[in-house]
Amino acid sequence: MKIKILKDYNELSYTVADIVQEQIERKPNSRIILPTGSTPIGVYKELVERKLDWSQVKTFNLDEYVMNSYPEHSYLNFMIENLFDHTNLLSKNCYFPDTWLHETPYGYDVDLCLLGIGGNGHIAFNEPGSSFDSLTRMVELSEETVKDNSRFFPSIDDVPTQAVTMGLKPIMSSKRIIIMANGKHKKDILDKAMNGEVTEDVPASILQRHENVEVFYCD
Ligand code: PGA
Repeated sequence: MKIKILKDYNELSYTVADIVQEQIERKPNSRIILPTGSTPIGVYKELVERKLDWSQVKTFNLDEYVMNSYPEHSYLNFMIENLFDHTNLLSKNCYFPDTWLHETPYGYDVDLCLLGIGGNGHIAFNEPGSSFDSLTRMVELSEETVKDNSRFFPSIDDVPTQAVTMGLKPIMSSKRIIIMANGKHKKDILDKAMNGEVTEDVPASILQRHENVEVFYCD
């Protein structure tokens, strides 16, 4: 895994946006996995300003809450607000995991996968202990993840405790993977994922087994 340290969040955002832009311009019908969370917001903002042609692109989101009493905080809504509504992406080409639970273990022929990393080493909602062979499925969120996500909800009791997540196996079948991490609080877990033991206790460590992973970090 190669790491690139950027000077600030702004540079991280436009550097990753450059990669997405290059991908879409080179292959207009690219298939791209997209994350939610606070980290990718700057990338989406940058991409919206670039007015790219998304008309043939297919996007696959990593995860979605279930039993969410606050649909305005759903990940679908996040994507609509931050990207979908401001591009010419076709809604029929935007896939969410809660609508494709029956999948092939070999993924979706994805050209580019953007990922964040959770404080506990999760990627998507594959929490510590997730099998490296996991497919898309319903999961219970860890206490730490519920706590981390409570900043988006009125109170911690409102945070959904279950989600549907893309599994580690389909994520690993992507041709190229980009991990984004913003802030000193991500430094230790990133180091563990990149240089520590490859173990299901640190789900992101599986990425050491992928031959085309780049990490973009700023503190
Ligand atoms: P964040 O979340 O971008 O809000 O830090 C990342 C993640 O949990 O995958």
